[in-house]
Amino acid sequence: LIEANAKEIAALETLDNGKPIRDALTGDVPGTASLYRYYAGWADKIHGKTLPVAGPFHTYTRHEPVGVCGQIIPWNFPMLMQAYKWAPALACGCTSVLKPAEQTPLSALRIAELAMEAGFPDGVVNVVPGFGPTAGAAIAHHADVDKVAFTGSTAVGKAILKASAETNLKRVSLELGGKSPNIIFADADVETAAKFAYFALFFNMGQCCCAGSRLFVEDKVYDQVLNLITDRAKKQKIGDPFDHATTHGPQVSQEQCNTVMRYISAGQKEGARCVTGGKRVDRAGYFIEPTVFDNVRDEMTIAKEEIFGPVLTVLRFKDVDEVIQRGNNTVYGLAAAVWTKDIGKAHRLAAGLKAGTVWINCYNVFDNAAPFGGYKMSGIGRELGEYALSNYTEVKTVVTAIG
Ligand code: NAI
Ligand code: MG
Repeated sequence: LIEANAKEIAALETLDNGKPIRDALTGDVPGTASLYRYYAGWADKIHGKTLPVAGPFHTYTRHEPVGVCGQIIPWNFPMLMQAYKWAPALACGCTSVLKPAEQTPLSALRIAELAMEAGFPDGVVNVVPGFGPTAGAAIAHHADVDKVAFTGSTAVGKAILKASAETNLKRVSLELGGKSPNIIFADADVETAAKFAYFALFFNMGQCCCAGSRLFVEDKVYDQVLNLITDRAKKQKIGDPFDHATTHGPQVSQEQCNTVMRYISAGQKEGARCVTGGKRVDRAGYFIEPTVFDNVRDEMTIAKEEIFGPVLTVLRFKDVDEVIQRGNNTVYGLAAAVWTKDIGKAHRLAAGLKAGTVWINCYNVFDNAAPFGGYKMSGIGRELGEYALSNYTEVKTVVTAIG
């Protein structure tokens, strides 16, 4: 049904979020359908183990549904986030009360309508649109909610964990912010690396939890990479997200637009050099030019805090140990990427970087089967793949005397 209604659902997503329609049509909608299909495959493959224990006992585990799941999602990939939450919960036999972000409730409601059309029993999936401090907080504090899964800001993630601690110790999984290092070595295919460094940050107007927002470039190729990225930034087609030629749309809201503009001024005030962009686009809507900062130091605000907008900070480095140390010098740990043709160096970085995903010579490669989530303040737990099933099951041990 999602595929049959692809154009309509893509339009709802673009209307709500502002993302270019071509991204909604080629990314969000097929990605959503394929995620439901993937987890439908797991539904009859979730099982426990038989355990050899000491003594005359037959012991086995059952993986049972955790129960009623409260699921609170953000506005950057609304229908995909709904699928990240609903698909594994349903495969495990749970029910869901889902709260979409107040900025983007439409696709969640339409997909819920399609679930009813598909014949889901009443009460299995529920959508409660509303604001965070009211509808969201009610889910986080509810004594009959067994588990909360949340994607959004680190501040709200902490509030949800606290609500669990103060109420019924509901299980909590969190997917939060990031300040992901994207590291280009001089021995990489530099043109490809620069092209993907652009995509790593500016995709979805920079509104991605795993955005490659700290671009570390080895000294020897620094100027070349900076020029390639700047050229690409200048070539974007900024405008109406419903125009199929548009590659760069608006930010989701006035609030987010203001936040991003505040970070741009902080960058300028603290002495970073704005190489391109840095301004609102002169047209109605929350449009911000793709912005690149050079002469950035690690301790600057724009190099430390999650901006969640089209602002790239470029940092210079000289050697491997230095860049591992600087890459890890953040409270976050969601993703990282390494560009090099040296296989040993690539895997040394993959092991050394504290991040839930490390991409080598690629970026933003997601798969239903590949787990995603964060170290440190980027979250708790993993979504996607077999790993996500543990968020939605309790393990029961059954021991039978057979002596
Ligand atoms: P947010 O964390 O406030 O909103 C995400 C979801 O949480 C929404 O559904 C919202 O209604 C809900 N929420 C808000 N306050 C709540 C509360 N007290 N209890 C329960 N639920 C609550 O994010 P916001 O304010 O939209 O964006 C702020 C920043 O958060 C962004 O600039 C970005 O840095 C980060 N963010 C990260 C995302 C990610 O994918 N990891 C997604 C969205 C935002
Ligand atoms: Mg908020």
